Amino acid sequence: MSGDLTDLLAGTRIIPVITLHSADQVQPLAEALSQAGVGCAEVTLRTPAAEDALRAMAGHPGLVVGAGTVMDAAQAERAVAAGARFVVSPGLDADVAARCRGLGVPYLPGCATAGELMAALKLGLNVVKLFPAEQLGGLDLLKALAAPFPQVRFVPTGGIGLERMPHYLAHPSVLAVGGSWIAPPELLDSGDHERIARLAAQAMARSRP
Ligand code: 3PG
Repeated sequence: MSGDLTDLLAGTRIIPVITLHSADQVQPLAEALSQAGVGCAEVTLRTPAAEDALRAMAGHPGLVVGAGTVMDAAQAERAVAAGARFVVSPGLDADVAARCRGLGVPYLPGCATAGELMAALKLGLNVVKLFPAEQLGGLDLLKALAAPFPQVRFVPTGGIGLERMPHYLAHPSVLAVGGSWIAPPELLDSGDHERIARLAAQAMARSRP
């Protein structure tokens, strides 16, 4: 399953975390991301319009869209029905993992400790979201966890911006970096897609070795 996420990301090393209040926000956003060369996005299920927005994003060719902030198996199922091609949780949930396995969709669980990593591995998950990465200890924490878990690939997310991103990406255990800084809520809400396109292009440029 984890291999699928690696395949799905197809070399994309940044995952914009996006919170939308209306499906109407999707078209210009998707265009801005695509123009910048961003290949994927995580739409959080945090607003009443999130499911509609996810459906609209998922319909955009050229973007691999996942659902974020998925808290239970029923939500995972609805997200996949809406077009999510991967599922992300802030923490690790065995029911979500089982439902995703049944649906054949990669699950990226949030992990913050060695115990949670051991639990993820027991569920057959070896790609995890290190969350909230910066607040927990940042790259030092990632290095400390990567040492005993060489089989784990991390997607650090939380408090990471353009400046910190390349440091994470340089670590061999890091698959990709996630964050809302590429399409921040205030720019989404004000409809500043030019600025989002610039931030996305900068992130893409800095994500390349
Ligand atoms: C998430 O759900 O992944 C976080 O809200 C993203 O964290 P950030 O907003 O600090 O980038």
